[in-house]
This record gives sequence, structure tokens and C-alpha cells, in this order.
Amino acid sequence: MKIIATDRNGKTTEIEGNDGWTVMEALRDAGLPITAECGGACACATCHVYVEEGWLEKLPKQRDEEVDMLDMAVAVQDNSRLSCQIVCSDETDGIQVTLAPE
Ligand code: FES
Repeated sequence: MKIIATDRNGKTTEIEGNDGWTVMEALRDAGLPITAECGGACACATCHVYVEEGWLEKLPKQRDEEVDMLDMAVAVQDNSRLSCQIVCSDETDGIQVTLAPE
């Protein structure tokens, strides 16, 4: 599946995500500067991304852990999600995300 990812300089690239991976893993694998300190355990919020319009409602609802973590993140917006909680699949093929400021 494809992910359209925009970095913090506004540069957009199309990257590949293997099914079953998380979007965070795909971003990291593609060399995007995502810290993902906790390695995807939903315990750091350093994988914070903004999900482009139209995609948010297609994603599974946030778990309580993700809501709690985002409460502590900076520059949170209505379209904020933790990329380690978004799984690559047919449903998320083509998702557009932008790295949030650190
Ligand atoms: S990698 Fe730590 S919360 Fe996503």
C-alpha cells in the first residue's frame, strides 16, 4: 500500500507500507525523521502526524491510550493521530499524513 507523506519542510513523498506494518514503521523505514521513541508502544507521542482530510473518518477509532498520549503531545490538532496506531492495509492505501512538529 502507499502512503503520501509530507515532512516538516513541506516535502511530499510517496512511500511504500507493507500490510500489517504501522504507518510509523513505514515512515521510519523510508527514512523520514520520525522519532518514535517508544517503538510503537503508544507511550511517547513522538510519532505524531496530521492525517489529511477525508482519511480521519476511515480510520478505526482512537484507543484510550492514544487519546491520553495525544493529550501530552505538542501542536495537537483535530486531525492528529499517532502513526504507530495506524495499520497499513487496503483500507489505508493512499493515506496522506504530515509529520507534526516535535
Ligand atoms: S511510537 Fe511512541 S507513541 Fe507511537
